[in-house]
This record gives sequence, C-alpha cells and structure tokens, in this order.
Amino acid sequence: MKPSRTRAQERLTAELKPIQLLEPQTEGGRPLMQVLKDRKSSREFNTEKLPLQVLSNMLWAAWGINRPESGKRTAPSAMNLQEINVYIALAEGLYLYDAKANILKPVLPEDIRAMTGGQPFVKDAPVNLIYVADYSKMGKVSAKDKVFYSATDAGFISQNVYLFCASEGLATVVRGYVDKPALAKVMKLRPDQKVILAQTVGYPKKK
Ligand SMILES: Cc1cc2nc3c(=O)[nH]c(=O)nc-3n(C[C@H](O)[C@H](O)[C@H](O)COP(=O)(O)O)c2cc1C
Repeated sequence: MKPSRTRAQERLTAELKPIQLLEPQTEGGRPLMQVLKDRKSSREFNTEKLPLQVLSNMLWAAWGINRPESGKRTAPSAMNLQEINVYIALAEGLYLYDAKANILKPVLPEDIRAMTGGQPFVKDAPVNLIYVADYSKMGKVSAKDKVFYSATDAGFISQNVYLFCASEGLATVVRGYVDKPALAKVMKLRPDQKVILAQTVGYPKKK
C-alpha cells in the first residue's frame, strides 16, 4: 500500500537533519553607534549562503539566551513569556531555532522561501526568518494584549537582526507584506500560532 502523504511527509522531515549551530562569537561586532548609523532596510540580495558561524551569531543576536542562569534572551518579551518562535526558511528546508540547544530543528523538507512574502527577492535570498507567536504560551493574557505583545516582542527581535546585519555588512528587511494564512498553512501551524512578521537576510547585491 502506498504510504499516506502525511507518513511520506514525516519520513522526509526525519531525513532533514537538525543543524547544530556553532557557539556564538560574542566578542566581535562594530561599535554600537556606528552600527546605528548604518542600520537600514535593503531589498537587493545576493544568493550567496551565510556561513554557519554567521548564521549562528545572527540567531543568537536575534533571540539567543544571554543569561543562561535565568534563560532570558537578547530581546525583551512582555512578562518574559518568550512566546515568539523564530523559524528560518533556507533552500534546504524550514527549521525552528532552538536557542537552548543551539540547533535548528527540522520542520519541513521543502524550500518555502517564496511563500514567506509577496516581494520577488524573498525566493532567492538565502535566509528568510519568520516570527511566529505561540499564543499557547500566553496563558491568561487578553486577546487584545496577545496581539499587542507578540507584535512588540517580534519587533525587538527584528531590530536585533537589523543591528547584527548592520554590524556584519549584511542586507536585511523586515516584512509585514506576507500572505499569513497561506504561510501558516504551508508551515502547518496550529490555529493558536500566529505569523507576525518575516525578515529577509543575505549579502547585499553588488552594484
Ligand atoms: C512592521 C513593519 C513592516 C514592514 N513591512 C515591510 C514589507 O512588507 N516590505 C518591505 O519591503 N519593507 C517593509 N518594512 C520596512 C520599512 O518599509 C522600512 O523600515 C521603512 O521604509 C524605513 O526604512 P529603513 O528601515 O531603511 O529606515 C516594514 C517595516 C516594519 C517596521
């Protein structure tokens, strides 16, 4: 008997191996005031992949654990709910950033970059981050505040990525122009997981 699509999908996901990230290099980077001078949105990307060390550093800067004793992060979160999950769409598949284990967990063995936004560059840029709020972590927070907190918290993570990119000479743009229901479907999210924003990262296209 032919295996069901779900089984086949599960097998393929199992074949997509976790990516062990490298220890983040926390000593480097350009001075903050210079980085702030250079922070900007860019929409022209090279297809060159990010080296694993750069990817590891960027994810730590975005939403890594900077105080292991408390598990708190490089970005603040309302009531320390830490409800934002950072997904990363690469050519080889979709992964979830696990900050504690410092790995990328396989989610889908498909290239979904084209689904992460309505702008043409998203399908070719090497990295598209997707910020997803997990409302199940937000307990008794009112419906209105779930929306407000998760949008705010994702914004802080995004700004960390902007600053990292400005420091490293990478190009980036945060994006709200995303078909969120379509992306949630392709990512197989639960109804209480909400796509908040996406953010493209790559090397700038040479002029
Ligand atoms: C919440 C939010 C959503 C955004 N959505 C998009 C988007 O979908 N596409 C895009 O190209 N830029 C998007 N941007 C980037 C803004 O257009 C950009 O920040 C603004 O033009 C100012 O440019 P700067 O970032 O270079 O200062 C978004 C920015 C924010 C904060």
